[in-house]
Amino acid sequence: MKALVLAGGSGTRLRPITHTSAKQLVPVANKPVLFYGLEAIAEAGVTEVGIVVGDTAAEIRAAVGDGSAFGVDVTYIPQAAPLGLAHAVLIARDFLGDDDFVMYLGDNFVVGGIADLVDAFRAERPDAQILLTRVPNPTAFGVAELDAAGQVIGLEEKPRRPRSELALVGVYLFSPAVHEAVRAIEPSWRGELEITHAVQWLIDAGREVRSTTISGYWKDTGNVTDMLEVNRSVLETLERRIDGTVDDDSEIIGRVRIEAGAEVTGSRILGPAVVGPGTVVAGSYVGPFTSIAGDCRIEDSEIEYSIVLRGSSLRGVGRVEASLVGRDVEVTPATRKPAAHRLVLGDHSKVRISS
Ligand code: DAU
Repeated sequence: MKALVLAGGSGTRLRPITHTSAKQLVPVANKPVLFYGLEAIAEAGVTEVGIVVGDTAAEIRAAVGDGSAFGVDVTYIPQAAPLGLAHAVLIARDFLGDDDFVMYLGDNFVVGGIADLVDAFRAERPDAQILLTRVPNPTAFGVAELDAAGQVIGLEEKPRRPRSELALVGVYLFSPAVHEAVRAIEPSWRGELEITHAVQWLIDAGREVRSTTISGYWKDTGNVTDMLEVNRSVLETLERRIDGTVDDDSEIIGRVRIEAGAEVTGSRILGPAVVGPGTVVAGSYVGPFTSIAGDCRIEDSEIEYSIVLRGSSLRGVGRVEASLVGRDVEVTPATRKPAAHRLVLGDHSKVRISS
């Protein structure tokens, strides 16, 4: 069994996170979303991993390297243009050979990993196995229609009138039967070779396509509420670990991870929360479901249910909640009269001021 991870795509600037143009590197609980996928693949006992890369190849390679940090062996497969998920399978043929494989979209997040799923596929070997999840906005996904017995009868990519609320999750298991399918299909209206069409081709050819419906699924849509929520659900599984320094005037309660080189003085941290390496928390309160990345400074402030990315500082700003703070951001109080807000905000910023 091999894995094919899709981390290509066009590399257009993302919202609201703009420090990476690779959406697979958006951080969840201080770790790129792609890393959770690679960990889930390794945990399922799959070590030969092909990563399809596009415009953002350099960023992906710099982050993942040869895969040894994850216990996998990575082969990079360059894709000249994002011509579709089935196109990625087409160009990965040499790497995949005649092995079964799990295809994992690098911007998808599946809570609880894929080990059970991979085990079941190995044991039963249908031609393909897809994952489905109920979503409120099926038009943004591939959508499956099941019959009364729960058998997949039809799949549609981004339908205007979805036949169900069951969206295709970006994790698929395939036998080599898929290679014939990806060669047989034509590009869709959006000019892509759709994996949805390849799976439909297998169904129409009478091949065995199974589905499993899961919960605990997320993909980055650029929506802050969703990002805070996935960050929360990952922090729920955090284990307490204090590698940084904490002085006697501080109180660390519950499942809190303080990474090596972080310094906490005169502060109260109530888990689950994570404080990245080299970050200083002084005279502050850090509340539940907060991820503070490395090299940040939180001074004389309170923060809860929020994400702060690398190199940012909050000094003397009172209470911050449900917020996403990007990289190298400074938040400070205004020092002089007139008492006014002074803002330098990037494109598409959203600020709610309580005064
Ligand atoms: O996320 C689940 C959805 O993923 C499914 O419900 C849809 O059926 C499926 O088509 C796919 O839809 P998206 O339009 O959201 O896929 P997107 O273009 O965002 O690509 C998904 C990942 O694959 C992303 O990490 C980029 C990568 N990719 C994409 C294309 C089109 C490639 O590596 N190469 C490509 O050619």
